[in-house]
Amino acid sequence: MSFREMWDALLPIGRGPDGGYRRFAWTEAELACRAWFVAEARRRDLDLERDRNGNLFAWWGGRGPDAVVTGSHLDSVPGGGAFDGPLGVVSALAALDELRAQGVRPARPLGIAVFAEEEGARFGVACLGSRLLTGAISPERARTLTDATGTTLAEALTAADTSWADGTAGAALDPGGIGRDEELLGRIGCFVELHVEQGRALEVPVGVASAIWPHGRWRLDFHGRGDHAGTTRLADRQDPMLPFAHTVLAARAAAERHEALATVGKVQVVPGGVNAIPSRVTAWLDARGPADQAVRNAVADVRQAAEDAGKLHGVTVEFGEESYSEIVAFNTGLLDRLIAPIERAGLPMPPVLPTGAGHDAGILSAHVPTAMIFVRNPTGISHAPQEYAEEADCLAGVRALAAVLQDLVSA
Ligand code: GLV
Ligand code: MN
Ligand code: MN
Repeated sequence: MSFREMWDALLPIGRGPDGGYRRFAWTEAELACRAWFVAEARRRDLDLERDRNGNLFAWWGGRGPDAVVTGSHLDSVPGGGAFDGPLGVVSALAALDELRAQGVRPARPLGIAVFAEEEGARFGVACLGSRLLTGAISPERARTLTDATGTTLAEALTAADTSWADGTAGAALDPGGIGRDEELLGRIGCFVELHVEQGRALEVPVGVASAIWPHGRWRLDFHGRGDHAGTTRLADRQDPMLPFAHTVLAARAAAERHEALATVGKVQVVPGGVNAIPSRVTAWLDARGPADQAVRNAVADVRQAAEDAGKLHGVTVEFGEESYSEIVAFNTGLLDRLIAPIERAGLPMPPVLPTGAGHDAGILSAHVPTAMIFVRNPTGISHAPQEYAEEADCLAGVRALAAVLQDLVSA
């Protein structure tokens, strides 16, 4: 199976009429992507392991220690692009094919990982699979996370038929067994994630990551009083939409003030009637920036603005942090080790650049030497249907990854 054949097989899964993907964790579309991965792993005679947290690993060279692991994720944001996640998985399989074609015999196991719920699009916490694996989130909290329909992660894991992933008929994941996996973590010697670049910073086909910006998610609940849109005098209203609207603008201003980024990309209005003053508005704030303090200051300002506006309109405001990831600097020496193999693969010297996007690599970096390879994105658009990389650049990414893996598995 060539890169193109694998890519084309994956392309229709979970794609909507506007070209955007909806591959939420443990739903039909994401399970179909996993089934595709399982078939590709079996085709290559790889040893397939589904860990206790629902992450998949396909091993070449056994389940021994000091493994070199690559891979990414197959889930998407709502209306996402084709490349964010799948490019790392398809490239990993293609790189493994290239190593085999060259007759490489790995001295260390090589694993291809597919991490679960990387986007946090369904259960709200990004990188959930790698967080569980490493213990960055407690199993108790994870089990009670809910999706938009009120289904808990525990219920979703029990319901999802993943038996094809380990050949055990009827074996759903046991929510009681999720959590830090010392044994598996202890086998991972290093992790290299290839990913489409998500900004406009890369001008050659392949680059490498210097850092992941600090980033997090906060939930704001504005509790007002539902009432009639036609009969309630303006002076009598406790309309949560007003402090919410004020907060969105305040987030933009705070981001500018602190040289950070702040986005309100998701909002729920209850009950959501055109002719009803809402009783509640819930909004999620995503904030990021090059420095921890900038993000913290921006978020503190947003909170203050929300609370002040709430008081003005007789609306109670609840503010809570759902997740926060500190800055990750890829400075373990693995980064330096990437450069020479990439150049040996005939590619220009890879630029070293930071990213404002979160990745499983960021979570794993607290435990094992970790690095990232980026593939050029000509428009820089991501988390949208227009996300794109040229096929030639994707193939350059495969060559770069194969060269890096060859170097790592031979030592
Ligand atoms: C994931 O892609 C994120 O950056 O939120
Ligand atoms: Mn993403
Ligand atoms: Mn991603």
